[in-house]
Amino acid sequence: MQEGRIERAFTYFESGAVLLVTTNDGTKDNVMTISWQMVLDFVPHIAISTGDWNESFQTILDKKECCLCVPTFDMLEKVVQIGTSHGSECDKFERFSLPKAKAKINKAPLIPDCLAVLECKLEDYVEEHGILIFKGLLLWENTKKKEQRVIHANGDGTFFADGEFRNMRKEMGQWVPKGSERL
Ligand SMILES: Cc1cc2nc3c(=O)[nH]c(=O)nc-3n(C[C@H](O)[C@H](O)[C@H](O)COP(=O)(O)O)c2cc1C
Repeated sequence: MQEGRIERAFTYFESGAVLLVTTNDGTKDNVMTISWQMVLDFVPHIAISTGDWNESFQTILDKKECCLCVPTFDMLEKVVQIGTSHGSECDKFERFSLPKAKAKINKAPLIPDCLAVLECKLEDYVEEHGILIFKGLLLWENTKKKEQRVIHANGDGTFFADGEFRNMRKEMGQWVPKGSERL
């Protein structure tokens, strides 16, 4: 993976990709799956919705950081396995043969097989709705990866990959933020 322009980081999340969220609690790395995520602005701020049924949740509140990783469609099996097990039961990186790498700012690791990874710090927690709001600090990109399609969840145990692509940049005009162009 190589460092990328933070201006286009939000483009990896905007279409509603399923994410892998990595953490480190001071002794151990962990990873969970998140499909409830939302881009809030171009900075970028990104929100996820979660709660105390996940071990990663408390780690994020304690350490105030995580890495938001964007897996590709060929990783779907692992993404489901990660999201149906807990970090206290096993080392998910080992059990699911998931390579990891050191991040630059965060203690939470990168997942280099992913299309992109955003090193984030926790900025806000909306307790009533279990919403964690992150600010993206550093973008990592895997531009050479053959599979570029991300995973979309329907919420009923079925998933789909990105489909038809259309460039409407000319029509979008001023609504395309400077430096965001990626595809
Ligand atoms: C496809 C998929 C999507 C998920 N999305 C969310 C989500 O948006 N929010 C959430 O709190 N949990 C979600 N989960 C559940 C967590 O990933 C799961 O509880 C995980 O095992 C937590 O790991 P941990 O306890 O090691 O932190 C999802 C699971 C799957 C399989």
